[in-house]
Amino acid sequence: MKDLTPRKEDLDPIEIASRDEIAATQLERMKWSLKHAYENVPFYRKSFDDAGVHPDDLKTLSDLAKFPFTVKQDLRDNYPFGLFAVPREQISRIHASSGTTGQPTVVGYTKNDLKMWSGVVARCMRASGLRPGDVLHNAYGYGLFTGGLGVHGGAEAAGLTVVPVSGGMTQRQVRLIEDFRADGITVTPSYALSILDEYAKQGLDPRKSPLKVGIFGAEPWTNNMRREIEEAFDMHAVDIYGLSEVVGPGVANECVETKDGLHIWEDHFYPEIINPETGEVCEDGELGELVFTSLTKEGFPIIRYRTRDLTRLLPGTARSMRRMEKITGRSDDMIILRGVNVFPTQIEEQLMDVPALSPHFQIELVRPGRMDEMHIHVEMAEGQSREGAEAAVRALSGKIKSNVGVSAKVHVAEGGKVARSEGKAVRVVDNRPKE
Ligand code: DLL
Repeated sequence: MKDLTPRKEDLDPIEIASRDEIAATQLERMKWSLKHAYENVPFYRKSFDDAGVHPDDLKTLSDLAKFPFTVKQDLRDNYPFGLFAVPREQISRIHASSGTTGQPTVVGYTKNDLKMWSGVVARCMRASGLRPGDVLHNAYGYGLFTGGLGVHGGAEAAGLTVVPVSGGMTQRQVRLIEDFRADGITVTPSYALSILDEYAKQGLDPRKSPLKVGIFGAEPWTNNMRREIEEAFDMHAVDIYGLSEVVGPGVANECVETKDGLHIWEDHFYPEIINPETGEVCEDGELGELVFTSLTKEGFPIIRYRTRDLTRLLPGTARSMRRMEKITGRSDDMIILRGVNVFPTQIEEQLMDVPALSPHFQIELVRPGRMDEMHIHVEMAEGQSREGAEAAVRALSGKIKSNVGVSAKVHVAEGGKVARSEGKAVRVVDNRPKE
């Protein structure tokens, strides 16, 4: 793999500024953001008033803990535009969640917000090792989902040549990566695996592809998956994080030279980790729920938003800004199987350690009698015969039992039968009877 370390002079100065300088910028911006939300969004005025706090009560960064949290339901309750802090006419762009599981949640961006967003995504592109003139194959979905257009704007701002492919039509993805000589690809890790399968189908060697780096996010993935993808494509794999409520992709990104967690662009998004049960703020280094406060957003300021994502904050390394560890999972995705907490990433980690199996998997929960059971659907790896299936099943269930601490029934499906993703993978199918 090529060394893609960016040159220091190409970074935004704040990325490598002193911690004092970063904290001073944060404090000034946080005061503005709280005031902006309080004065312009009735929801925030009421929630601050109800909690007995006022933006003037913020004297230091840690005073933020006095302010109330915002949760997804608050966005739903204020559907569609109730949390906008500027007149609708000043909103240049709207994005929304798909709304497949309830009321969609809507976010809005002013012209300045879009510029800020492009700026942070451009940082992500540079951190990933892409340089002006490189070709980026952007396979995140375009549309109301923030992935496609979010990456697009930032990639253009970073001087890349963007190929706006969006998700789907996997055959064509491979063809365009090859024909347009893509240097980088932005895609969910699960869809990257589908693209990898397509290379095999077309009889092409992915290690000979022009790709130098893959920038994977929008869903959790493990370091074991990183190794698998890096090896398969002979390219770097880095993590990009974000969520629509905060901005979309580009809240944090790994640096290609260190790959040790994601640097949060803290001059725009202030992170906290809280104990999800008590709401207390945790020390850096402690595992808990990630909470964000926007510091510069005009259209849709967001104060202490509970992401439900579980991680910990770590000190800066390649940049001065703090890192978040790779996300373990979302509290909503946590499976409680006979009292043991299990995240799909833990299953992924074990699966990647069984070379006879392909990396595609789906977890099914059932309750045939009184007890819940976890079934894991997998496939044999490319070129492996089904003869080895029994040994592979034994290997995976053994690893899950000893490393995760639960019993799982592993099933080896025919090749291609485990659901493939074209965006965010559906890792868990709950077929337990509804109570
Ligand atoms: O998924 C934004 C995005 C697009 C990020 C493309 C990165 C790349 P939402 O659809 O609002 O936005 O989903 C946000 O996805 O709260 C996490 O649970 C999960 N997520 C996003 N990035 C990562 C990641 C986009 N790198 C939700 N690792 C978040 C783990 C991630 N989970």
